[in-house]
Amino acid sequence: MLSKTLSFTILGIEAFLVEIEVDLTLGLPGIIIVGLPDSSIKESRERIRSALKNCGFQLPMKKITINLAPADLKKEGSGFDLAIAIALLAGMEILPRENLYKKAFLGELALDGRIKGTKGILPAVIKAKELNLEEIIIPFENLKEASLIKDFKIIGVKHLREITDYLRGEYFPKTPHFEIETSFYEKYEVDFVEVLGQELAKRAFEVAVAGGHNILMIGPPGTGKTMLAQRIPTILPPMSHEEVLETTKIYSVAGLLTPETPFVFTRPFRNPHFAISEAGMIGGGSYPKPGEVSLAHNGVLFLDEFPEFRRDVIEALRQPLEDGKVTITRAHYTVTYPSKFMLICAMNPCRCGYFGHPTKPCQCSFQEIKKYRTKLSGPIIDRIDIHLEIPSVDLKNLIKTDTKTSLDSKSIREKVIKARKIQEKRYGSPFKINARLKPKEIKKYCVLDLGAQEFLEKASEKFHFSARSLHKILKVSRTIADLEDCEIILKHHIAEAIQYRILEKPLLWEN
Ligand SMILES: Nc1ncnc2c1ncn2[C@@H]1O[C@H](COP(=O)(O)OP(=O)(O)OP(=O)(O)O)[C@@H](O)[C@H]1O
Ligand SMILES: [Mg+2]
Repeated sequence: MLSKTLSFTILGIEAFLVEIEVDLTLGLPGIIIVGLPDSSIKESRERIRSALKNCGFQLPMKKITINLAPADLKKEGSGFDLAIAIALLAGMEILPRENLYKKAFLGELALDGRIKGTKGILPAVIKAKELNLEEIIIPFENLKEASLIKDFKIIGVKHLREITDYLRGEYFPKTPHFEIETSFYEKYEVDFVEVLGQELAKRAFEVAVAGGHNILMIGPPGTGKTMLAQRIPTILPPMSHEEVLETTKIYSVAGLLTPETPFVFTRPFRNPHFAISEAGMIGGGSYPKPGEVSLAHNGVLFLDEFPEFRRDVIEALRQPLEDGKVTITRAHYTVTYPSKFMLICAMNPCRCGYFGHPTKPCQCSFQEIKKYRTKLSGPIIDRIDIHLEIPSVDLKNLIKTDTKTSLDSKSIREKVIKARKIQEKRYGSPFKINARLKPKEIKKYCVLDLGAQEFLEKASEKFHFSARSLHKILKVSRTIADLEDCEIILKHHIAEAIQYRILEKPLLWEN
């Protein structure tokens, strides 16, 4: 007897429909799975056999053939267990076969018939809705994550018995209603007001976040570089529903969603250690898995102690920085993950950390300083809009005076949100921000008044800005003007943007 159910396999962050056909025929008893299954699917034979037995269903003494179609699509993971078990029960005439092909099933079976959570539920639910299926039946554990999708029938189940009773029409699982409490996700334990002094840096962060610009901080040890970066989440603008879905999809396929954090509601802030491998940063592995650049999608990637990262890891950041996505090609797969993030790098001016320090002498030789900075030259630095010097400050004096005058995260965030709204209106999309303007768009949207034009020309002559640097200055000044709600870019906007290009001033950094 032939029966059919539906399930999904994940490629990148998209779900692809898989039809599961089960045929029971006379022959040598046993289960064969065909259709490019990997070893994890072959193992499901044993799980299904035990789960069915422990739920009181005896497998018939027949030859059971399970086909996963289309055959040319690579399938992996334990999420097919449920769909196979249901198709098998339908083939055994324990469950009705009508309408089964309009329902999708996803979930891993435990040996006692319990249904365990699985990766990639959100993309599967999105696809099931797109395909106009009747409903999708998923593990109860994944119900919260799936609740991001509205107006579609999603059933969460904990045990195989529950599904069989449901499909026979004897029981209807209660689907709890989840209210998404966004304010809960926007509480932070840190605030920009705690950073004493460093007003220029705080302002630069305001500008960077408002326009999504990448930042490099250079300064001696203990001046607050890490402290500043850690406070960025507190000023990031809220995510749109589309951004929440995109980022949650990535965390869903990476298997990083938990019942406590079933979706990604705040912009991610990823802070990988400098010992990270290329696969960890970009993604990959024997099974495709998103890396840090994708886990930071729609959020921030912070590389502390930037020169300590391996050269191949830094080089690999090129494609995501340029295209906003990464394509990973291995022997048996090619996947693409989105990876639009704001890059923040922090470093000391030299290995000992005190090059250019007003009081402490630097221990490094000229050669050492040059070597330390080699990773600064090249393609990544070319993609950083804002370079900042974080000087040492006398904290003792600042403690008494500074706390009241400094802006707190809430006020900075309000300004950021206002500037983002202006950009959204101008470009007609929440995804387009000043940092992502293409050269043609820079010409169209970065209009300077006469004073600003003259000022920029003079500065270009003095500092010999490359065409690339000029574009960066224009994009950053666009953001500075947006923070003032000013459509035309003025001289002081340009002057501030040039201030954020310290690496263009060779005298300061290359003696
Ligand atoms: N501007 C500041 N305001 C308040 N506290 C500060 C400031 N700068 C440094 N500190 C204090 O010094 C500690 C170290 O600062 P942080 O780790 O941010 O320095 P860093 O610049 O990242 O140094 P390193 O180059 O060694 O990584 C902070 O945890 C904080 O207690
Ligand atoms: Mg640090």
